[in-house]
Amino acid sequence: MKKHLLSIDDVTADDIATLFETAAEMHDVQRRDVKKLPALRGKTVINLFFEDSTRTRSSFEIAGKWLSADVINLSAKGSSTSKGESLRDTVLTVTAMGIDGLVMRHSASGAAQQVAGWLDIPVINAGDGTHEHPTQALLDAYTLTRHLGSLEGRHIAIIGDLTHSRVFRSGVKCLTKLGAEVTVVAPPTLMPSGITAWSKDAGFATSYDVDAVLPTADAVMMLRVQKERMSGGYFPTAREYTVGYGLTRDRLKLLKDGAPILHPGPMNRGLEIAPEAADAATSAVLDQVSAGVAVRMSVLYHLLAGPSTTTDHAGE
Ligand code: NCD
Repeated sequence: MKKHLLSIDDVTADDIATLFETAAEMHDVQRRDVKKLPALRGKTVINLFFEDSTRTRSSFEIAGKWLSADVINLSAKGSSTSKGESLRDTVLTVTAMGIDGLVMRHSASGAAQQVAGWLDIPVINAGDGTHEHPTQALLDAYTLTRHLGSLEGRHIAIIGDLTHSRVFRSGVKCLTKLGAEVTVVAPPTLMPSGITAWSKDAGFATSYDVDAVLPTADAVMMLRVQKERMSGGYFPTAREYTVGYGLTRDRLKLLKDGAPILHPGPMNRGLEIAPEAADAATSAVLDQVSAGVAVRMSVLYHLLAGPSTTTDHAGE
């Protein structure tokens, strides 16, 4: 395993298999009364979040705490960045205190990569602009394997605001690495430029037609319409987006029986996903959240504690 997790490019299919094995052990721990493992006792992890987050930050915090690490949360609001301190000064300052790992989210694509170049400790990218969100991709793929078994040859549809989605960029890399066939679907205005060349290179398909793709998918992953990253009008009205690209109640009938529905959250209910889909028996949205803790425990464990103690501690 590489030192940092900045992108899905940092892990091989074998690394992912190892991460999933440990995550499965961690998932069992999650169901116990007493959830603490001693694996990261004496280690300190900082969660440095320059962008809003509910699940990712708390998931990393819980993951670190259940591994007995000391976890400190810092956000841009309330930190010295709001006084004009540079990113480099901020990260050098917090790491000078003697921390062992840094989890960071930033609105600039490439920020985690840049920070990793300044530091000796492992850096985990918890989302950088519209670039990557590798732990989300890992937890999504892990959730899918729990529902479908091996992803080899399985057809996964990723639908929504692709242009602004780091979840899609990491997700497509992770799923194709695991042998899945991926089709990404968006309106033309939310299809990233250059995707034709990339999709050919990386071996995934693109489509503008949700109704044609849904019946062929073994699982469907809906993406949030990221209004906060949009400066202009990408679609005429919310209603038109829903009619064209939302997972509506009517479209549920197009899905294969039992096909899981994923969404990384936060969901815009009624826009990209209807309540009937979000709350369907086949909805895996809360499974994703629960898998998120297990997968992040696994990532923190492998990056901060090293591989030799995996089974020792997970078995305790
Ligand atoms: C995603 C993110 O922040 O990139 N959310 C998440 O991490 N659970 C997706 C989103 O914000 O739509």
